[in-house]
Amino acid sequence: MRITMVGTGYVGLVTGTCLANTGNDVTCLDVDKAKIDKLNNGISPIYEPGLDELIQRNAAAGRLTFTTDKVSAYQSAEIVFICVGTPSDEKGHADLKYVLAASADIGKAIESAPGDSGGNSDERRAKIVVVKSTVPVGTNEKVRAQIQAQTSKTFFMASNPEFLKEGAAINDFNKPDRVVIGANDKGTGDRMRDLYEPFVRQGNPIFIMDIPSAEMVKYAANAMLATKISFINEIANLCESYGADVDEVRRGMCSDKRIGNQFLYPGLGYGGSCFPKDVLACISMGELSDTPATLLEAVHAVNQHQRNAFMAKIDKHFGDAAGLSGKKIAVWGIAFKPGTDDVREAPSITLMEHLLERGAAVVAYDPVAEETCKEYLADKVAYAKDAAAALEGVDALVVCTDWDEFKFPDFDHAKAAMKSPVIFDGRNLYRPEMMREMGFTYHSVGRHPVVPEAVQQSG
Ligand SMILES: NC(=O)c1ccc[n+]([C@@H]2O[C@H](COP(=O)([O-])OP(=O)(O)OC[C@H]3O[C@@H](n4cnc5c(N)ncnc54)[C@H](O)[C@@H]3O)[C@@H](O)[C@H]2O)c1
Repeated sequence: MRITMVGTGYVGLVTGTCLANTGNDVTCLDVDKAKIDKLNNGISPIYEPGLDELIQRNAAAGRLTFTTDKVSAYQSAEIVFICVGTPSDEKGHADLKYVLAASADIGKAIESAPGDSGGNSDERRAKIVVVKSTVPVGTNEKVRAQIQAQTSKTFFMASNPEFLKEGAAINDFNKPDRVVIGANDKGTGDRMRDLYEPFVRQGNPIFIMDIPSAEMVKYAANAMLATKISFINEIANLCESYGADVDEVRRGMCSDKRIGNQFLYPGLGYGGSCFPKDVLACISMGELSDTPATLLEAVHAVNQHQRNAFMAKIDKHFGDAAGLSGKKIAVWGIAFKPGTDDVREAPSITLMEHLLERGAAVVAYDPVAEETCKEYLADKVAYAKDAAAALEGVDALVVCTDWDEFKFPDFDHAKAAMKSPVIFDGRNLYRPEMMREMGFTYHSVGRHPVVPEAVQQSG
């Protein structure tokens, strides 16, 4: 099929490339010329494992092209996927300005298309406009109205929320647990099913449902995952207050098959470009419909608290608000999770801003997220060439992302390199007992702190 992806971000680029890889003719459209120029030079503007090679292979085969030319991209496509961002606005509502701008462009292009290449009254050939962006219930209707305001030609609408995870996006799209399609007519549902059949050959389901339900599935899934994270963080905080160890509690709790052990790891709270904004969007859907999302309000509040509580631990270690002034702190991991260069809503950014505000110097290291971090913090922090180099002469190390390379570092080198052997571990990567044996002061989440005796006495 001839497909146009609108927005070549983490979703549009990955899904477009994977759709090209199954033989479709895919055009990736973006308003960001710099991104398109990079892609036309064979360079991916985002870090996603395996993506560069897949882009190059499909581009070379002529199935994957990149453009800023809206009119030809929209007119040539049988299926247009809207994959633009839907960030929170200042009130926490999903901001639909990019979705609606793209919709207006699509309507204009359909209207100006010669003959059948725009709209087509033949249901089997008319254009399908698919909303893949995560959007509040009712958005597909707004998109339809926006397109219809520009054209009287026939087109069909579908909702197709995306469930890929950054860092594992290609595998997630190629082997989805399920595909969700919202369609209000059988023909559109069938054509979307045909497109996705190659991805579910092992029998995973394609669910075809009404459009509002499909829109809601994505929010429900992300809200559930965010709830699990806030739940275990709240338990971790109770563990800390009462001298229990959340690792032990997790083990004991998660062996119950009804609970399971996925997404129940305590830490710095959720970040990234999806959970924070999607939880807020659910809360605002509740406000707008007078159906308060009370649980999700608490999920959000716990998440905010989690970062603050961790920063308070660092403050407390250094004595008082002024204690961090003049100190040098290493930060391992900037990306909001391993496997990506995405730093949107990353706890590390909040934390580094906090350290800078307190007058500390920060030296950060991340295997892939240095460039994206600079978009937020520019050169306010120093960037180390590797994890070991970040530790030279620092007063403490803060671990923000659980990249594999941080899981078993050379602790002897770390101790020798650091001015004082102090670790704040926001991901519970290390065993407190081992930290004690190695002479570190060690603070993690929901577990007993390790404070060597000499420090306890002097403090
Ligand atoms: N990132 C994820 O892991 C993920 C997973 C599932 C769903 N989603 C959802 O998918 C959507 C996109 O997320 P993302 O992370 O890929 O966003 P992104 O910010 O990485 O990419 C969006 C792209 O859209 C482009 N764009 C904006 N307006 C445009 C227009 N009018 N025409 C053409 N291009 C335009 C931007 O330049 C940008 O390149 C969001 O709704 C998000 O919630 C994201």
